[in-house]
Amino acid sequence: MTTRTAPQTYRVKSFGCQMNVYDGERMAELLAAQGIAPAAEGEEADLVVLNTCHIREKAAEKVYSDIGRLTKAGRAAGKQPLIAVAGCVAQAEGEEIMARAPAVSMVVGPQAYHRLPEMLARAVEGERATDTDMPAIAKFAALPERRRIAPAAFLTVQEGCDKFCTYCVVPYTRGAEISRPYADLVTEARKLVDAGAREITLLGQNVSAWSGANDRGHRIGLAGLIRDLAEVDGLARIRYTTSHPADMDDDLIAAHGEIDKLMPFLHLPVQAGSDRVLRAMNRSHTAESYLNLLDRFRAARPDIALSGDFIVGFPGESEAEFADTLALVDAVGYAQAFSFKYSPRPGTPAATMPGQIAPEVMDERLQRLQAALNRDQLAFNRNTLGRTCEVLVERKGKHPGQWLGKSPWLQSVWFADEPGHGAAIGDVVTADLVEAGPNSMRGALRQVRAA
Ligand code: SAH
Ligand code: SF4
Ligand code: F3S
Repeated sequence: MTTRTAPQTYRVKSFGCQMNVYDGERMAELLAAQGIAPAAEGEEADLVVLNTCHIREKAAEKVYSDIGRLTKAGRAAGKQPLIAVAGCVAQAEGEEIMARAPAVSMVVGPQAYHRLPEMLARAVEGERATDTDMPAIAKFAALPERRRIAPAAFLTVQEGCDKFCTYCVVPYTRGAEISRPYADLVTEARKLVDAGAREITLLGQNVSAWSGANDRGHRIGLAGLIRDLAEVDGLARIRYTTSHPADMDDDLIAAHGEIDKLMPFLHLPVQAGSDRVLRAMNRSHTAESYLNLLDRFRAARPDIALSGDFIVGFPGESEAEFADTLALVDAVGYAQAFSFKYSPRPGTPAATMPGQIAPEVMDERLQRLQAALNRDQLAFNRNTLGRTCEVLVERKGKHPGQWLGKSPWLQSVWFADEPGHGAAIGDVVTADLVEAGPNSMRGALRQVRAA
């Protein structure tokens, strides 16, 4: 065991979903509160936190290649960084990482990272430690205050998953569904707005399963929480992700028609279009019930932009069943979507199901699916041409005087500043959508509203 000097600089690298991004921000705040500074761009940090994702095989393999790269860079610089592995790979394969990667001195799961400072103190003494406990929600109370925040901020309101889709590791890596208490969320939302947020995306593996007691002691669901957060002064926009079709209630659908701050966007993963495949996935909905649900959202908010997740090549998926997925895509007309090749995950029921699909077949299906999704995304973008909408300015564009932001429908919109306007990050500006590309829109600035 060798002791070492305490780290002066850190870097947190987050992979995977937005909840990991949120956790990464909280870990960075925790390290900053210990007096450790973020490493400058391009500089090797003394402490590196790899905040990992376990959802697909490639994501997990990345961790080991990253550890290798860090040790190599450390050898070249004559100084090895302290390495902590956090996130879902840490939770799922903590022991294995410790055995396989001696350069790693800390393994910390997604529910235990508030204890990072203690682990760090031990790591400096030369001890290696693993903490993959899952104390219910304890971490939030133990984390430091929120600091400066980008205009579009994340707020984790719910964690874990009880759905046990047969392909998925999340119920194992993130544990059972739990909702953070109402009062904590209202307080954190206010702090995010005070720190610069104009938009808050409420996060959860199954965010629409959130429930809690409001300040009058009434049981409310996600829609009730959104209604109350819409009252927070200075907050311009609310979004939420990710939802499961089983937890969408009438109140949430109605909220889309009633609350101006709730953006017209819904990410609702479906995974497949064949009912037999959906049953084998343990999805608890059919293609038809999913389409009916989308119709109800469209009735409440006709311009709502729809998004989804898809898996191709689930074990046993036939060509005809895959065609059902393409038919569902045609029926919906998604504004955007994510699609993946099925990846067998250790310990999940689907990993040992018969009829595993050959990689070439998956590649070919993924290509066809993505061609259809790209076609629909461009069609959606073209369909918004000529609309005048609000754009939340999130960052500078590539060229001077250029800005990038998001439309209500989550499209990336770039626009050039007009002389005399002077837009700034965090402004909600009004723009005409004048040009449509596959991945972004060009806007023409109409009006800058003071932030
Ligand atoms: N809780 C969310 C997100 C889960 S992970 C939900 O249920 O929608 C995000 C996406 O990854 C999933 O929607 C699914 O499309 C994909 N995914 C999950 N496990 C996978 C696996 N084993 N192989 C390929 N894709 C997977
Ligand atoms: Fe995974 Fe299914 Fe839970 Fe989503 S709902 S996190 S896909 S088990
Ligand atoms: Fe990945 Fe864990 Fe999120 S497995 S997708 S980081 S919940």
